Amino acid sequence: MTVSVAARRESAVRAWGQVRARLAEDAVAALGTADADAFLHRVDLALLDVHEPLAALYGDRADELFDRALRIALAAATERPEELRRLDRRREIDPGWFQRTRMQGYVCYVDRFCGTLDRLPEHLDYLAELGTSYLHLMPLLAPRPGENDGGYAVADYRAVDPRLGTMADLERVAAALHERDMSLCIDLVLNHTAREHTWAQGWLAGDPAYAGFYTAFPDRTMPDAYDATIPEVFPDRAPGSFSWVPEACGGAGGWVWTTFWPYQWDLDYTNPAVTLAMLEEITWLANRGVDVFRMDAVPFMWKRLGTSCQNQPEAHTLLQLLHALTRLAAPGVIFKAEAIVAPDDLVPYLGGHERYRPECELAYHNSLMVLLWSSLATGEARLARTALARMRPIPPTASWVTYVRGHDDIGWAITDTDAGAVGVSGFGHRRFLNDFYAGRLPDSFARGALFQENEATGDARVSGTAASLCGIEDALDRGDDAALEAGIRRLVLLYSVACSFGGIPLLYMGDELALRNDAGYLADPARAPDNRWMHRPPMDWAAAARRHDPATLEGRVFAAVRRLGEVRRSLLALRGGTEAELLDAGNDAVLVWRRRHPRSGTFIGVANVGPGPQEVDADTVTGYGTFAQVHGSDGPLHVRDGRLRVPGLGFAWFAEP
Ligand code: GLC
Repeated sequence: MTVSVAARRESAVRAWGQVRARLAEDAVAALGTADADAFLHRVDLALLDVHEPLAALYGDRADELFDRALRIALAAATERPEELRRLDRRREIDPGWFQRTRMQGYVCYVDRFCGTLDRLPEHLDYLAELGTSYLHLMPLLAPRPGENDGGYAVADYRAVDPRLGTMADLERVAAALHERDMSLCIDLVLNHTAREHTWAQGWLAGDPAYAGFYTAFPDRTMPDAYDATIPEVFPDRAPGSFSWVPEACGGAGGWVWTTFWPYQWDLDYTNPAVTLAMLEEITWLANRGVDVFRMDAVPFMWKRLGTSCQNQPEAHTLLQLLHALTRLAAPGVIFKAEAIVAPDDLVPYLGGHERYRPECELAYHNSLMVLLWSSLATGEARLARTALARMRPIPPTASWVTYVRGHDDIGWAITDTDAGAVGVSGFGHRRFLNDFYAGRLPDSFARGALFQENEATGDARVSGTAASLCGIEDALDRGDDAALEAGIRRLVLLYSVACSFGGIPLLYMGDELALRNDAGYLADPARAPDNRWMHRPPMDWAAAARRHDPATLEGRVFAAVRRLGEVRRSLLALRGGTEAELLDAGNDAVLVWRRRHPRSGTFIGVANVGPGPQEVDADTVTGYGTFAQVHGSDGPLHVRDGRLRVPGLGFAWFAEP
């Protein structure tokens, strides 16, 4: 039975009416009149965003849960430090703060970047030099001992990994960032905890407080039924989505839901106690000074028999709920979805549903990333143009984060439909990309490696640093200057798109210095079986010391990347709030896109993914001569006979003066 919007609103208003007076009284006592007024006003506005998801997920229990959830939000609002409330106020005045062109990200592992958290503030000058205003520190909460999936197996959300420091250190890092108007992003692993987490241990021991926190089945009937339609994440060492745990099911043994590694136990969000417990962890961390939560592996949070158990409508509803509740307590905090899924499934994480529903402010533009690598391999931008043009627009209040590389493997999320639209086979093309980037093809410049090769399905993903995948490692090894030149151009070209397609560009640590693959992980037994560590090298500060020497590789790449950020900051048309449109400028080797900002004018980006020079229609790119070139890989480009000549692997930016 579908419930009308009016009926849903009515139940929300009724539920609010029942608790408002008491909550208002408590809010005034806890927060003082002004902050209480703001808090209650936020609830008024978010009423439907909180109550409706509760009703959709938990039915009759919605009213009771509504009251409990508001109480958690109020407690967190009360506990929120004054400096963070000031930030909240500024961001409530300027809700598009994360859409400004000054936003530029840097992503690093604390230990690999600077050892420990207390050393991080010493390196803020380096980050500022690059133009960083948003720092994503890779998983740093206390993980389980031993193998921990790069920190994605969290044993305690309220403690920092002791090898990196303490929670007080993290708070100091947040404060140091805020002093420089930089924001802090950390990972929030929502889908699962480590099996060592108190919740998991309590559940296993039959503690009623944790009843129903996880899922276990006594025999293979249900696991087999689910596994029949769930694609495997780690087929080589963790096939299937369930792990046998002898202590489960009251000691009789059971198959625990473990989408990822066997030590990462999926939380069961059909149980509202889990949702509320997670809300308490999120708001507690927000009050330590976290500005952006990277919501890890969100597509997997809700399971349904007979499906891939990804991107279920309830996973979205759940995110919307957590989002709305978190922002009652901490309105300056935003969510970033890590949903590495097909293009059609991606936009809803930004709230782009049939009816707009606020969900995450940011999401990784996985499609753009994948299509850029695909374009470099083929020297053709037609697939990228077609697939990107087909994507649904995102809500103007949300933005992408655009990136070239991250800590994960590259999975070729190119659909058969998109591939078919340009006349290639999806499967064949994905296989080609794997072979190409694993360096298995004779004309490949890349030095990557296959990750999670699945013999049964022929699927695989690719590991390797951006520089190595761009051909820089191979060129250096062979001492081939021309190849090195091409490798550098590829790397800068990719970043030129990430910096101007729209959204917050993320720089993955080491890419600014063209760091190559690192084999060091092979010496560590907890890491050796996971080749994603090859593209998580330690920061090379000796290489960084060469960054101002234009005669070095590091000097060239660093200067180019830094300049991209600098020019980007001056181009108001690159603000969030509007879409990139793909243009056909009459040449399939050249990707051309336009951003039109209602207040800040038009921007045109041009990227030649082919090795040789190409010509495009000049009028398309210059808006019939109304836009001027503001940046480019090769200085001012020339127009002859109505055609603009773009050098191989070159880029150019045009804007309304
Ligand atoms: C995300 C992380 C990945 C991790 C997985 C499980 O996809 O990026 O590194 O393995 O979640 O937490």
